[in-house]
Amino acid sequence: MCGITGYIGKNNNAIKIVMHGLEALEYRGYDSSGIAYTNDNKVNITKEKGKINNLKKSVDFNIKSNLAIGHTRWATHGEPNKVNSHPHSVNKFTIVHNGIIENYIELKEELLNNNYVFKSSTDTEIACAYIDFIYKKEKDILKTLNQVTKIFRGSYALGIICNDDLDNLYAVRKTSPLIIAQGKDENYIASDVPAILKCTNKYILLDDFQIAKINSDNIEIYNQKLELVTKETLEFDGTYESSIKNGFEHFMLKEIHEEPSVFRNTVNTYLNKNFKNIPNFSKYNNLHIVACGSAYHTGLVGKYLIEKYANIPVYVEVASEYRYKHNFYDKQTLVIFVSQSGETADTLACLKKVKEDGIDTLGIVNVVGSSVARESKYVMYTKAGCEIAVATTKAYLAQLTVFSIITMYLINDKSLSNEISSIPTLIDNLINKDYKSIAKEIYKDKNIFFIGRGIDYFLSMEGSLKLKEISYINSVAYQAGELKHGTISLIEKNTPVIAISTDNTLTEKTISNIKEVKARGAKIIFVTNQNIIDNFYDIKIDIPKVSELLQPILTIVPLQLIAYEVAKLNKCDIDKPRNLAKSVTVE
Ligand code: G6P
Repeated sequence: MCGITGYIGKNNNAIKIVMHGLEALEYRGYDSSGIAYTNDNKVNITKEKGKINNLKKSVDFNIKSNLAIGHTRWATHGEPNKVNSHPHSVNKFTIVHNGIIENYIELKEELLNNNYVFKSSTDTEIACAYIDFIYKKEKDILKTLNQVTKIFRGSYALGIICNDDLDNLYAVRKTSPLIIAQGKDENYIASDVPAILKCTNKYILLDDFQIAKINSDNIEIYNQKLELVTKETLEFDGTYESSIKNGFEHFMLKEIHEEPSVFRNTVNTYLNKNFKNIPNFSKYNNLHIVACGSAYHTGLVGKYLIEKYANIPVYVEVASEYRYKHNFYDKQTLVIFVSQSGETADTLACLKKVKEDGIDTLGIVNVVGSSVARESKYVMYTKAGCEIAVATTKAYLAQLTVFSIITMYLINDKSLSNEISSIPTLIDNLINKDYKSIAKEIYKDKNIFFIGRGIDYFLSMEGSLKLKEISYINSVAYQAGELKHGTISLIEKNTPVIAISTDNTLTEKTISNIKEVKARGAKIIFVTNQNIIDNFYDIKIDIPKVSELLQPILTIVPLQLIAYEVAKLNKCDIDKPRNLAKSVTVE
C-alpha cells in the first residue's frame, strides 16, 4: 500500500534521506515510486514504474537539496505507470497522497470548468489542482489547506510543497496516518514510523484535519481554527522489524487485520469500472484453473461459484499435476493461473506450456510485474499489498474476492452492491471475536479434522492447510458425507472436528454427519451462518449470512484465526513455519 516520506533540513541531503525512507516502506507493497526535490529554488520530479531500484537509477544522488517528498504508490485510481505515480504537480503545488479522495469526480468537473487540464487518471492530481485552485483565491497556504479539509471527502495524508514557500514543507491528514518526525536541524514527515527510524525515533502524530508547517528548526501544528496547538512528542521504542508489524505480534495477524481493506481495494478495482486487460469471459465455453497450495483452494471455490451461477464447466488442478498430464483444452478454453507471488515454478511452467499451445491465459496475481503477470495474456491483480507471513491469509481472501467478482461479471449481477459495502465491517467483526479460548480446547491434540459439504468443503481444505502449516498439527479436511467411508475410523473420544455449514440446502445432511462423529466422542466446533441451537456441537462460531457469492470471504476468517491462535499456544514460529517458503521457485 502507498507510503509517504518527506524531509526538510539544513544538511542538504534530502534526496538520500527520502530515498532511504521509501526503501524502508517497501514492505507495504507498491507498484511505482517517485520523489520531488528542490534545487536552485525549483521543484524537480522523478518517477518510475516498478521497484525503487528503477527510481534509484534515475535520481542523481549528488544533487544537494534541502526539501523533498517521496512516495511509493500502490495503484488504486489508474494503472501503475509513470504518469499516475506520485508526486503530482499542478502549477505552484506538488503533492504526495495516501488514501482516496472520494469526491474527486465532482471536483474534477469544477476544475475542468476552470480550465484545468489533467495528465493522469488519479484522484491525487485532482486534489493537487484543487489546492492550487483554492490558493489562487486565498493566497495563503494554511488557509488553503484548511479549506480543502472541508471540501475533500474520503481519506488522505498529504505531503505538500508550494513554490511560493520553499522554506517550509506542509502536511495534512484525514483518516490516513501521518507522522511528523523530529531530527537535529532537520524534520521529516512519513506515513509510518519505519520510514524515519534510521534518522530519529521522535515523532508527533498528526490528528485528523490538523495542518503541519515544518522547516529545519520548527514544527508548527495548526487546528481547524488555524490556531497553533501543542502536541506531545512520542518516542518509538523498538526495532525496524517491530515497527513494520504495526504493533501486531506477528505479520500473519497484521495481515488478517488488513483483510477488510484488502477486500475493499480489490472490489473497488474491478467493480463499477471498465474492465481493462480482462478477458471477455463469455467468449469461452470452459475454464481451467491451475495453481498451488492456498491459491489452488481459491480455484476450487471459484469453480464452485462459476459452475453453479454461470453454468460454465470449470476444471481445477494443482500445477504440479497439470504440468505432466494430458489436458483437454482448445481455443474456447481460458486457463486461469492463480498465484500470490506470481513466481511459483510449477504454476509458471504450466502457464508457459499452455501459452505455447496458443490457448488464452489469465493470471490472478498479487505481485505486480511478477512472472505470471508478465507471461499471462490477461491479468487481474489481487489488491492484497505485500504479504510477508509465509502462510497466506489476506492474499487468499483477495483471490476469493476476484473469483466472486468474475462470477458476478459472468452473470451480470449488479445487485450485491449493498452487501459488498457491508463486507469489510463484517470481516472486522469476525476478526475481533475470541478464538483463543477455542484454541485452548484443541491445541494439544495430535489430529484435527475439518468437514464440510460443497463450498464448505473447499473452505475446510484451506482451514486445515492453515492449521497444519503453522501449528504442525496433523489435520485433514474431508467431505462431510465421505467421512463414514474411511476416515471416521480415526475419530476417538475428544478428537476435534471443525464442521462448517453455510449452505442451508445441505445443512441437514451435514448435521447428520456431525452427529455420526459426535456419537463416537468427537469434540465439535461448528462454524455456521445459520441460527441453529442444538446439542450436537460443543462450540459454535457464528458467522453472518450473506449471499453465497460473498460468503466464503467471511467463512475463512475464523478458520485463519483458529490456526493462528493454536500455533501461538504451541509457541510455533508463526510467520516462518519450518520447511515452508513464501515463494516456491523450484519444481
Ligand atoms: C507456497 C506457500 C503457500 C502458497 C503456495 C502457492 O507453498 O507456502 O502458502 O499457497 O506456495 O504460492 P503462490 O505464490 O503461487 O500463490
